[in-house]
Amino acid sequence: MRSITLIMGDGIAPEISEAVMKIVDNSGLKINWDIQTAGADLIETEGTPLPKRVLESVIKNKIALKSPVTTPIGKGFRSVNVQLRKELDLYANSRPCCSFPSIKTPYDKVDIVVVRENTEDLYAGIERQVDENTAESIKIITRDASIRIAEFAFDYAVRNNRKEVCAVTKANICKLSDGLFLNCAREVADKYSDIQFREILVDNCCMQLVQNPNQFDVLLLPNLYGDIVSDLCAGLVGGLGIAQGANIGKDYAVFEPVHGSAPDIAGKNLANPTAMLLSATEMLNYIGEKEHAIRIKNAILKTFADNIKTKDLGGQSSCSEFTDAIIERL
Ligand code: NAI
Repeated sequence: MRSITLIMGDGIAPEISEAVMKIVDNSGLKINWDIQTAGADLIETEGTPLPKRVLESVIKNKIALKSPVTTPIGKGFRSVNVQLRKELDLYANSRPCCSFPSIKTPYDKVDIVVVRENTEDLYAGIERQVDENTAESIKIITRDASIRIAEFAFDYAVRNNRKEVCAVTKANICKLSDGLFLNCAREVADKYSDIQFREILVDNCCMQLVQNPNQFDVLLLPNLYGDIVSDLCAGLVGGLGIAQGANIGKDYAVFEPVHGSAPDIAGKNLANPTAMLLSATEMLNYIGEKEHAIRIKNAILKTFADNIKTKDLGGQSSCSEFTDAIIERL
C-alpha cells in the first residue's frame, strides 16, 4: 500500500483533511496516510512549528498532501509553508484556476494556471530593523531560480497543451530584480518555439484579469506577485474554497489548497473541502492514479451540478454533508 504524508495544520485543517481522506479512501484507493501535525501548537511540546519528523516523513514518502497552517502576522515564527518549500526545495508552485459549470461567477470558461516561483523574492525572509522608524526587507531574485521556474512553466505548457506563457513582473520599477526574472523568462521562451510568450506588468495584469480573464493562459510570476495574483484568480472562478495548488521540486511534491486556515469558520463544520480535494486529485494524477483522480473529480462535478454546495459557494451544506454527497456520487 502506498504511503503518503498528510501534513495536518490548524484552523479548518482537521475538518477538510478528514473529509479528503474519507473521500479518497471511498474512491477505492488504499492509501496509508502518514499523518504529521505541524503548526503553532507544537512550539510548547516540540519546540518548533515544523518538527524534523514532518520533513523526514515527506522525504521518506516523497509525496505529501498538506492542509493549511496559521502564520502569526507581524510577529512570531517564520511561516511553516515557506520553511517547508525551502527545506524540500519545492521550487515551483502551480495553481490552476478553472471555471466550474455549476458555479456561477461573472466570468465564463476561465482557464488559467498560475506558476509561481516558490523559494526566493521577498519570501526569503531577510528583514532587519534599520532603526526605530525604519525596517528593510530584501527581495532576492537569482538567475538559477528564475531559469528553472521559467522552464517549469514552459514544460507545463507543453505537457498540458497550453498556447501561451505570460511573464508578470514590475520590471519597470524593480529594474534589477524583476528585470533579471524577466530576462530569464525571455531566454527560456526562445527555446520553446511552439509556445507563445508575452510580458505584462503586474498592476496592468490585475486589471486585465478582472476585465477579461479569458485572454490569459499560463502566468509566470516571482513569489510575492504569484501569491497575490493566484488569490485574485481564485476569486474569478468562485473563491478560495475551490482553489487547488501544488508545490513541486526535483525530488518531492507537496499538494495543498491555496487558502489558509480560515480561523473565522474553524470548528464550525462550514469549510469547503473542495480546494484540498482537488489538490489531492492533482496528487493522484502525479503518482499515476489517474482513474481515481477522474472518479473523484466527476463526483465533485456531479455534486455541484445537483446544487449541493457549501456556504462559501452560496449553498446550504455543511462540510460533512457535502463530503457525504461526494462519496454517494463516487
Ligand atoms: P484564508 O485563506 O484562511 O481565509 C480567507 C477567507 O476565505 C476567509 O473568510 C475564510 O473563511 C475563507 N475561506 C478560506 N478557505 C475556505 C474554505 N476551504 N472554505 C470556505 N471558506 C474558506 O486567509 P487568511 O484569513 O488571510 O489567513 C488565515 C491564516 O492562514 C493566516 O495565518 C495565514 O498566514 C494562513 N495561511 C496559510 C496558508 C497555507 O497554509 N498554505 C495559505 C494562506 C494563508
